[in-house]
This record gives sequence, structure tokens and C-alpha cells, in this order.
Amino acid sequence: MESHPGFTLLPTQLDSTIVLADTDAEAEWARIDLSSLTKQEMNYASEFEPDAAATWAAGRVILRHVLGTHLDRDPDDIEIRLDSAGKPRVEECEFSVTRARRLVLVAVADDPVGVDLEAVPEHAVAAEAMSLLHPKERTELEQGPQSDLATDFVRVWARKEAFLKALSTGLARDPGMDYIGVGASPNSPHPDIEIFDLESGLPKDYHAAIAFNR
Ligand SMILES: CC(C)(COP(=O)(O)OP(=O)(O)OC[C@H]1O[C@@H](n2cnc3c(N)ncnc32)[C@H](O)[C@@H]1OP(=O)(O)O)[C@@H](O)C(=O)NCCC(=O)NCCS
Repeated sequence: MESHPGFTLLPTQLDSTIVLADTDAEAEWARIDLSSLTKQEMNYASEFEPDAAATWAAGRVILRHVLGTHLDRDPDDIEIRLDSAGKPRVEECEFSVTRARRLVLVAVADDPVGVDLEAVPEHAVAAEAMSLLHPKERTELEQGPQSDLATDFVRVWARKEAFLKALSTGLARDPGMDYIGVGASPNSPHPDIEIFDLESGLPKDYHAAIAFNR
């Protein structure tokens, strides 16, 4: 796929096109040129406070452009609808989108896919959010070096959100129900879902994971 100027194609062996856009740098245009958004999308964004609205809208602009390139269609003409779980869908392919601070990551694939990007939080935030994890994951974090807690937490959290997006439930399914693990390789709790860490091409202090529902 050809990338739009300002987008980075992440190197991967996985069956997915994965595009990173920094809306605070090369892809800043996506915060300004909102011409590809529908009226409903503009109305939806206007419900947020200004910075969150600008980031959401920029993410949707980037998604439209990535899908447009993938499908060889005009980004304005792509019909994105939400399913009953709130997952955005198009008829022609599977995709997933995630935002962290001003970065946007989009994955396009043949199989249902979930992607999640997270910035490493403050230690105290990670320590508090640990309560959302599976009990065994909490134990793994408690037994690991406390200096690595925030990084270890965010690694498992990104895996978990990618998994829940590939499952299409999102956080409507309790993230504490499934054991995915903090260790070197993610454990998939579902026979049809594969989970991978995304390690190449991300800025320092960000973690991402992708999951495929085959
Ligand atoms: C989807 C969800 C996991 C997103 O997590 P997040 O870290 O806040 O945000 P991210 O940027 O990583 O991902 C947001 C994207 O997830 C996607 N998404 C939303 N619902 C989804 C679902 N059920 N399945 C898969 N993907 C979904 C959307 O593409 C969304 O981007 P968009 O708003 O531009 O369309 C989470 O917000 C969620 O599950 N929401 C629905 C259920 C809910 O609101 N529960 C109460 C919160 S505890």
C-alpha cells in the first residue's frame, strides 16, 4: 500500500497493514483538514472537550485516508457504520483504530482485527489500574520489579484491549476475566484469536499490540 505523506507504515511480518500517524508532527494536517468527515462525525466530535475532539476527528480523518488508500477509493465516499457493540466497520475489509496522546495507529487486515496503542503511564496510575486485570496478571506484576511496573502494566493492557477489540466486545467485556499475561509472549484466552506485541517503529514509551480473530 502507498502511504499518505506523514504516515509511517510499520514493518511487520503479520498479515496486516499497520499505519502510524503523529498528528503533532508530520500528520498534523489531519487535525486541520476535516473535509473528509461526515456531518455525523463532526457532530460526534463536538460532544468532546476541544483537544479530545480534535484528536478524535484527526483519528477519523487518518482512518478514512488509510482505508481510502487500501480500497483505492475516495476517503470521503467510505461508509463507516458502527455495529451494535460500537465497533466501526466498512463492508470491504476489517480494520481497527487506536489513539494515544496525539498518535493514531490503524491496522487493516482480512480477518477481524484489534489494535491498541498506549503511552506508558505514571507509576501511580499503573498501580491503581492493576485492579482491572486478571488476578494472575496482578500477581505477575506484583512479583516483578516495581521499577518496571508501569511498562509491564501497559504491555499487558495493550494486549488486552487489542484482544477485546478483535473479539468486538471492547471493554463491555470485563478486562479482568481473561488471562493474557505479562510475560514475553501473550497468552490468548480464545482459540480463534492470536495476539502479538508490536515492537518495531513505535516511539519510545509507547506500547502496542494487535490481535486477529481467525
Ligand atoms: C473500544 C474501547 C476498548 C476503546 O478503548 P480506548 O483505549 O479508550 O480507545 P482507543 O483509542 O484505543 O480505541 C478507540 C477505538 O476503538 C474502536 N472500538 C469501539 N468499540 C469497539 C468494539 N466494541 N470493538 C472493537 N473496537 C471498538 C473504535 O474504532 C474506537 O475509535 P473511534 O471512536 O475513532 O471509532 C473502549 O472504549 C470500549 O470498549 N468502549 C465501549 C464499551 C464501554 O464504553 N464500556 C464502558 C467503559 S469501561
